[in-house]
Amino acid sequence: MSSIASRSASQALRTAARAAAQPARRAAYSSLARAVTGKAVKPLAVPGSRGVKTLDFAGTKEVVYERADWPLPKLQEYFKNDTLALIGYGSQGHGQGLNARDNGMNVIVGVRKDGESWRQAMEDGWVPGETLFPIEEAIDRGTIIMNLLSDAAQSQTWPTIAPLITKGKTLYFSHGFSVVFKDDTKVVPPTDVDVILVAPKGSGRTVRTLFKEGRGINSSVAVFQDVTGKAKEKALALGVAVGSGYMYDTTFEKEVYSDLYGERGVLMGAIQGLFRAQYEILRRNGHTPSEAFNETVEEATQSLYPLIGAKGMDYMYNACSTTARRGALDWAPVFEKANLPIFEQLYNSVRDGTETRKSLEYNGRSTYREDLAKELEEINNQEIWRAGRTVRSLRPDYKPESE
Ligand SMILES: NC(=O)c1ccc[n+]([C@@H]2O[C@H](COP(=O)([O-])OP(=O)(O)OC[C@H]3O[C@@H](n4cnc5c(N)ncnc54)[C@H](OP(=O)(O)O)[C@@H]3O)[C@@H](O)[C@H]2O)c1
Repeated sequence: MSSIASRSASQALRTAARAAAQPARRAAYSSLARAVTGKAVKPLAVPGSRGVKTLDFAGTKEVVYERADWPLPKLQEYFKNDTLALIGYGSQGHGQGLNARDNGMNVIVGVRKDGESWRQAMEDGWVPGETLFPIEEAIDRGTIIMNLLSDAAQSQTWPTIAPLITKGKTLYFSHGFSVVFKDDTKVVPPTDVDVILVAPKGSGRTVRTLFKEGRGINSSVAVFQDVTGKAKEKALALGVAVGSGYMYDTTFEKEVYSDLYGERGVLMGAIQGLFRAQYEILRRNGHTPSEAFNETVEEATQSLYPLIGAKGMDYMYNACSTTARRGALDWAPVFEKANLPIFEQLYNSVRDGTETRKSLEYNGRSTYREDLAKELEEINNQEIWRAGRTVRSLRPDYKPESE
């Protein structure tokens, strides 16, 4: 979006936020979403109603908080004397910052002057000297310091940042990483501030897209340090302000362990490994690249995984042939047994800090961006993904510019 377009969109949003702030009108998030997308959308729940729920998750009772607990007028009243200083403007900074701004919060952004994020922030309508500042100045001006630097950068900048987080401010994270692995990161929050976490369960781009659609991302919330007695309440309110729809309780430790484990496992690392192994055996046995790719990745992502996402594993099985179903049911326990020790090893490697140390070392290098680009280029050039590009080009909705 051009900066002019983005400014006029944010103007429309501020107007909508102000309208929503009138208690009599109660237009709230759906009108905001309409202002952004131009489309009417259904709100998640009736604003104003109490939505804290205890739900049964497969026999375990857990509390779920929802956006309806914090209608916009209440949210805006709650933060009327606060300045949310968003430090870092990467994936999460962009999504959370724009959502909070559109929700009528007083938000400023703090990033390295003239870096990539500074440029990006200006493009999104943040104004140098008004809502966009160098990191130290933003922290100085903020009351709620939202540390959304990359995890490696949180550790590197901590010696400069820590003295600026003075009594009365609140320190906010979207990952338990820095605080939990303090022996490695050296991030030890001052003892006289509330320290809270809102971790959206998805990329910052999704945080923004769902908000614009009038929906909200699922997030987990946690309190590390409660000095004011209001830390939990503040975490929940901030969760709503940045675009969460539903929020689950966690701790800093549980959040970081599960997150590092999941992304190294089935979410990313394990799935890449499985795809590669399956493809390799098909190729060794004389199958063509297109056949190997279709039977490994294309059918998974285009047909079967969406079915699991929509209605669960049993639903996917029911939608398949009896032959496929029988074989898959037989082989699932074999894969489970083979993989259990690997997942055990992975969890231990997360818990004992090995994964953190590797990540800090790699992502803290000055050549980090170039090193990563090289590694990703190697993946991009693997036969499986080269074959994939041709397979994708045959999809009915294929757009060449998206490659
Ligand atoms: N991405 C996700 O899907 C996701 C999901 C949930 C939670 N989180 C958590 O949210 C937090 C932010 O993650 P992110 O993915 O949004 O981060 P990111 O995209 O990697 O953001 C990087 C930001 O850090 C800044 N930065 C990097 N090195 C720096 C340094 N040495 N000094 C100052 N600034 C530096 C960059 O500024 P420049 O442009 O100037 O380099 C940029 O603004 C992390 O704690 C992450 O674990 C992320």
